[in-house]
Amino acid sequence: MRRPRIRTAVRTPAGLAGADPGPGFEITFDGRPVRALPGQSIAAALWAASVLTWRTTRGAGRPRGAFCGIGSCFDCLATVNGLPNRRACLLPARPGDAVTTQEGDGHAGPVR
Ligand code: FES
Repeated sequence: MRRPRIRTAVRTPAGLAGADPGPGFEITFDGRPVRALPGQSIAAALWAASVLTWRTTRGAGRPRGAFCGIGSCFDCLATVNGLPNRRACLLPARPGDAVTTQEGDGHAGPVR
C-alpha cells in the first residue's frame, strides 16, 4: 500500500519547525554581503550563502570551515570584526558583522 505524501507549505528546517525568526539582516564575508537571520550562527549564515571554508591551516594552508558545529573542534575559526580566532559555529551573527578569512593563526597573516 502506498503511503500518502505529506506536504508542508515550506520544506525547509524553519518551515518544518514553524519557526518565525524575524527579519533578516546583512553581514559581510571578505567584503561580500551575506544575509543572516536573528539567532543564526555566523557559520550557519555562511553555509546558507554557500560559503564552506573561511580559514586556512597554519602549516599547510589547507581550507577549513565548520566541522563539529558545537564548539569542540575549533575548525571554524574566523576573524570577526577584526578579532581573530572566533568560533563561527558558536558566535551569533549580528547586523553589520564583518567576517574575514583567517589565515594561519590569524595574528600576522599566513605562517611560513
Ligand atoms: S565547527 Fe567545531 S568548533 Fe566550530
